[in-house]
Amino acid sequence: MGRVQDKVCLVTGGGSGLGRADVLALAREGAKVVVTDIDRQGGEETVHQAGGNAIFIEHDVAERGQWERVIARTLDHFGDLNVVVNNAGMVRPGNVETCSWEDYQLHQRIHMDGTYLGLKYGIETIKRNGRPGSIVNMASTTALMGYKDVFAYAACKGAVRSMTNAAAIHCQQQRYNIRVNCLLPGVIVTPLVLGLRAQTAGTGSAGQIQPQAGEAKPGPGLGEPMDVGNTVLFLASDESKFINGAELRIDNAACVNPAPL
Ligand SMILES: NC(=O)c1ccc[n+]([C@@H]2O[C@H](COP(=O)([O-])OP(=O)(O)OC[C@H]3O[C@@H](n4cnc5c(N)ncnc54)[C@H](O)[C@@H]3O)[C@@H](O)[C@H]2O)c1
Repeated sequence: MGRVQDKVCLVTGGGSGLGRADVLALAREGAKVVVTDIDRQGGEETVHQAGGNAIFIEHDVAERGQWERVIARTLDHFGDLNVVVNNAGMVRPGNVETCSWEDYQLHQRIHMDGTYLGLKYGIETIKRNGRPGSIVNMASTTALMGYKDVFAYAACKGAVRSMTNAAAIHCQQQRYNIRVNCLLPGVIVTPLVLGLRAQTAGTGSAGQIQPQAGEAKPGPGLGEPMDVGNTVLFLASDESKFINGAELRIDNAACVNPAPL
């Protein structure tokens, strides 16, 4: 019997990095997993690696109509929904002066609109069955301290944190039996972080968030995707049934005691 045996878990942005680790951790412990992403190839590779009980659905989290289709297909295929992991994300460098209006709006759409829609459709669907539900939102340590070179990203992650608290209190007061928590990873080596480093190489920008050259592997200040995957697994499982509205940093204390990364 796995730790999330037969729970139906929907992971957005499951085609890469942290989302893929979440899917693999959940599948390993018996979940039925719906992997969604705008990247079909990555999503299908994740399903392949999960082996067995996982399906892929192409999905842009910022599009409301697509959420309706994803929920309908999930219920059609697995007959239920118990867990939503609002993980999909992206980052483009830029400080308060250099961040373009377009980049600012793009961050808002994917991180804020995407998380709002995941909460809205997730709660609406999970509450129907009355069984324990869990929603995990992917915030970031950028919501806690100033990372000046990812201005729009950090702003959105602050909002994800606030949405988590508001939704958790709402579900608790409504007696929905749905917990809502958020994770705040520090710097985890994924294509997102490596891409940010490539975009800012030689500019002296984003120095707080990028691994130094030659250090793109886990170390004291750098995590690996399964550090997050295992935490998602815990929050998805009933082992965390008394944890609601929590914000959990996953950064080996690198945020409160910032070592040069
Ligand atoms: N890697 C880190 O250090 C770190 C730290 C804190 C928070 N996070 C957050 O974790 C989440 C995953 O990041 P990652 O590092 O695994 O990045 P990643 O780039 O490896 O994966 C992100 C995935 O999201 C997908 N995606 C992007 N836009 C989408 C959209 N509109 N709809 C659906 N899918 C979309 C991408 O195709 C990709 O597969 C993000 O929310 C990110 O902000 C990452």
